[in-house]
Amino acid sequence: MSTQKSQQDLWKQQVGEAAAQLIDEGMVVGLGTGTTANYLVLALGERVRQGLHIIGAVSSSQATMDLAASLNIPLTDLDHHPVLDIYIDGADEIDPQLQLIKGAGGALVREKIVASSAKHFVVIADPSKLVKQLGHIFPLPVEVTPLAKTPVKLHLEALGANVTLRVRNGETFITDNKNNILDCTFPQGITDPVTLDAKIQSIVGVVETGLFLNMAEKVLIGGPEGVKVLHR
Ligand code: A5P
Repeated sequence: MSTQKSQQDLWKQQVGEAAAQLIDEGMVVGLGTGTTANYLVLALGERVRQGLHIIGAVSSSQATMDLAASLNIPLTDLDHHPVLDIYIDGADEIDPQLQLIKGAGGALVREKIVASSAKHFVVIADPSKLVKQLGHIFPLPVEVTPLAKTPVKLHLEALGANVTLRVRNGETFITDNKNNILDCTFPQGITDPVTLDAKIQSIVGVVETGLFLNMAEKVLIGGPEGVKVLHR
């Protein structure tokens, strides 16, 4: 592991632990997915071990649910608790308006559903996730019904995207919802995320996009000077 990587991990841990302090007694909490969110879950597990009582946690992926369960964090779901007090998750890219790309881990649909069910959506990240414009570092994931992946690919290409069907370990990637993901890059970046998202959402067969627009209330960034808070 390089020095830079371990420094980045320390910032992720720092911000994950800071975010765990936002969780109060009696809350219903949404837990995100990814390496930064894992630090949040570990810190919440420690708080629960020390006596914090939350009503329950809704996870945005099976991986997070398994980690939370291993730490004795009480679990619930949106059928039992359709309104969450807070949802905390990482992101792949964050622009100055706090618009996000998410879904590198493939959990974008559940993440967007859980985020939309929360009174407050807080993003946690290290400084590498801050960008001037979305779409220059991470591809935009679009989750599609498997039957529609090829026609949807053509529609996305007509919108100017270079499109790749996500593959992991030599196999077509299958999401928690049994769908596929088309990863889209845009040569000029994403100049108008709101319009692009509306166009993609209108394609039949698209389940959801990784654009999380006007959703994040604030962003916590771990870094060399401690945790900074960015507000929308
Ligand atoms: C999961 O699908 C993503 O949206 C993650 O939230 C995102 O990839 C952040 O992950 P890291 O914290 O591992 O960078």
